[in-house]
Amino acid sequence: MTRQQLIAQAARTLEWAKIASAPLEEATMSVPAEHYTSERRWKLEQERIFKRLPLVLALSAELNEPNSYKALTVMGIPILLTRDAAGEVRSFVNMCSHRGAAVVESGMGTARRFTCPYHAWVYDNKGDLAGVFQRERFGDLDTSCKGLTPLPVAERAGLIFGGTVPEMPFDVDAFLCGYTSMLEEHALGACQYVGRVALRGSNWKLAYDGYLDFYHLPILHKRTFGADYNNLICGDAWGPHQRHMQPDARIMELAALAPEDWPQATLLAGVWTVFPHVSIASFRLGSERMYQIAQLFPGETPDSSTTILNFLAAFEPDDEQREEIDKQIDFLRSVVEFEDYATVATIQQALRSGAKSEFVFGRNEGQNQRFHSWVDRLVGADTPLDTYALFDGAKEFHHPQP
Ligand code: FES
Ligand SMILES: [Fe+2]
Repeated sequence: MTRQQLIAQAARTLEWAKIASAPLEEATMSVPAEHYTSERRWKLEQERIFKRLPLVLALSAELNEPNSYKALTVMGIPILLTRDAAGEVRSFVNMCSHRGAAVVESGMGTARRFTCPYHAWVYDNKGDLAGVFQRERFGDLDTSCKGLTPLPVAERAGLIFGGTVPEMPFDVDAFLCGYTSMLEEHALGACQYVGRVALRGSNWKLAYDGYLDFYHLPILHKRTFGADYNNLICGDAWGPHQRHMQPDARIMELAALAPEDWPQATLLAGVWTVFPHVSIASFRLGSERMYQIAQLFPGETPDSSTTILNFLAAFEPDDEQREEIDKQIDFLRSVVEFEDYATVATIQQALRSGAKSEFVFGRNEGQNQRFHSWVDRLVGADTPLDTYALFDGAKEFHHPQP
């Protein structure tokens, strides 16, 4: 069923490839320049988007062992993700019930128990308080209610979604708007985690915009991807989540094959986003499939963000492939860092001049248009109930045939 959907998308894209064109939006769209600088706007985006929605906090491949964990900080909130011996994922505020120290340092590993570095209270990976140092001298304590504070979490399609606020409304399936089965086609949960790069960037939307448009590819990336790189875009959406592919030579190869023989790798090509902060792009290493999965988080100020580039291999690499992977990671990191983010930094700097009151997204930048429309709608939702009502009412969008 889902493969049929992938085939339908590729078939529509193929029709555009045959005429070397792509669908256009009805009109251009302006976005106020202050949306990239305003403290007020940035705070609203954190409160109504990042603190209200399920975020991709980890990839299943990062915690694929029983008793593995990942400790991280998201928008200043310390989070501990664990997978127990039975494989169940949990999430907690990484904060000791005694006097609040972080129980685990940021990082990943395997552990059944976590010992707080301050006074050695011990927690198991289900979050229960399992030991109090010199218990007999401590005094009255009901240890049964002194576990770590749980946070909402759910694992879907090889991604670990979590909330950053205890007891917040959290419905990952409603949020994904039917996109889950499409994401599952990638089998990300079965991939090997092969690399990570952390980058500093500008305002999170300014950085994220670059993952949504193909318009810039043969221009900004002429020295890396090439000046004749295809920059046409065919995009579909499930609620705020989008998938876009290029009607390029690779799609044209499908014309010679019956749809049932269309290779899965081609059907999965392009960029897949998970709103509001993740971009998943597959690429080939020889005949094998790899992924670059970018996770963006707002930084400490409106003009800063952090990006984690995660790299997955859909195969078990040997030593030779390992070297190739490292070279490829280095190449992609340098494209993002020295071309995309370096350019975006010039925008952030120039915004201080106040010279432009708005930016404009073209009819050929529909993915950015849809992204900014969703940001606006979510920022305008007064309550979490209003937020989920937007997902309930969201329709799938499929780009038209020529
Ligand atoms: S703060 Fe953790 S044991 Fe005291
Ligand atoms: Fe780019």
